[in-house]
Amino acid sequence: MSADNLAAAVQRMRDADVSAEAIATFERGYRLIEQGESGIIVEESIEPLGELPELAGLDAPIDDDAVHATVMIRLNGGLGTSMGLDTAKTLLPVKPGTTFLDVIARQTLAFRRRHAVALPLVFMNSFRTQQPTLEALARYEDLAVDGLPIDFLQSREPKLREDDLAPVDWPADPDLEWCPPGHADVYPSLRASGLLEQLLAAGYRYAFCANADNLGAVVDPRLPSWLAATGTPMALECCVRTPAERKGGHLAVRRSDGRLILRETAQTSDEDAAAMQDLTRHRYFNTNNLWLDLQALADELDRSDGALELPIIRNSKTVDPSDATSTPVVQIEAAMGSAVSRFDGARAVAVGRDRFIPVKTTDDLLLLRSDVFELDDEYLLRTATDPLPLVSLDKDHYKLVPDFDRHFPAGPPSLTSATALTVEGDVTFGADVRVVGDVTVSAADLDDGRVPDGAVLGE
Ligand code: UTP
Repeated sequence: MSADNLAAAVQRMRDADVSAEAIATFERGYRLIEQGESGIIVEESIEPLGELPELAGLDAPIDDDAVHATVMIRLNGGLGTSMGLDTAKTLLPVKPGTTFLDVIARQTLAFRRRHAVALPLVFMNSFRTQQPTLEALARYEDLAVDGLPIDFLQSREPKLREDDLAPVDWPADPDLEWCPPGHADVYPSLRASGLLEQLLAAGYRYAFCANADNLGAVVDPRLPSWLAATGTPMALECCVRTPAERKGGHLAVRRSDGRLILRETAQTSDEDAAAMQDLTRHRYFNTNNLWLDLQALADELDRSDGALELPIIRNSKTVDPSDATSTPVVQIEAAMGSAVSRFDGARAVAVGRDRFIPVKTTDDLLLLRSDVFELDDEYLLRTATDPLPLVSLDKDHYKLVPDFDRHFPAGPPSLTSATALTVEGDVTFGADVRVVGDVTVSAADLDDGRVPDGAVLGE
């Protein structure tokens, strides 16, 4: 029965011309899910990381050859469903008239000028994000270099019915029968697209891979230099966990072979929850800014028939993400950083928060759009506000981007003097509002739920 369902899913992928590498990866994940693979990593099997080297303290001198041999890959295939989007998050403006894509393109052009390097920029898109992304980037005529494409397409896989793991049918919108398989798809898709070999043939050796929704992820010449000097096949940029990150994943060392691994919340048993949340024991989390020696990746892909064996994430959703009553489905995914355990000699390096400015929620988006962050003349994000204010918007009214936008018709309030902004209920902000200190705004306390123009909250 389920063998039939797997065969049906694979047939659907073949009919859609999905690559052999992606099909092999999917089949392996399917079997693991079917066997009820939990992916649990017990505390006894890992050791905490020691003190990591810090980016600021890396003593390798800048290696111009390594910087010349660097390419930047930005992950842009996710659908931003948790913010109510169904296309690339990077099409959203971060400042008036300037989207995430504009910032990444302009940061890259500025880096090329400053360091006199080619620095190819390549986006990994999915079937849903490719066309709008390429349209938005068309204005940057000089973005493509060395005959390399500015994007490659990641694969797709069928969403599976939660009840019997059959590929789901959704005739109302057949596009919704498919999903991108998570950012670890970068590995099989780099190979299947031919780009990995094309990059190596053109002399590119080091890839900086990072989420396109993290505008702090820029190339730092010290990192490829360090990779080259130490012969490191893969390196993860990590930050020190704060209480806000207690519940998120962390890095550790696997006792059995001394390799680095990632442990996500879903991979932790209830008995180990306290150890996992102990910030003095497991100090670092993965930013998903990652450095790869492309030759080491090609060798590892050769060894594993194009499909790296990575831990699987079982992601439960509904077939139509905007309709919670639609058919429950499972999406089989894997995380890019989890490949760290595949490489002997992989390392981690501690970086500052300036390299990790993710936008996962509209809380993050409000902060980025506010005056707390400014773009300098090389489009690098700068902030003079430390610590950053904690923003917490009412989930019922601001979680989805269209709703969020409606509540700030004149743009975000000034947050440079704020330590925290909490919004309860359905509050619309007027123009030129300023938040000072720790402020809670409640719709119930306002006339018509509106903060008037020019209001100073918290004084
Ligand atoms: P997230 O896991 O945060 O996913 O991806 P997301 O798409 O932004 O958000 P949700 O879960 O749908 O709400 C981190 C980065 O990896 C990319 C995303 O575009 C984002 O830059 N990504 C994710 C891919 O490129 N492909 C994937 O299959 C998944």
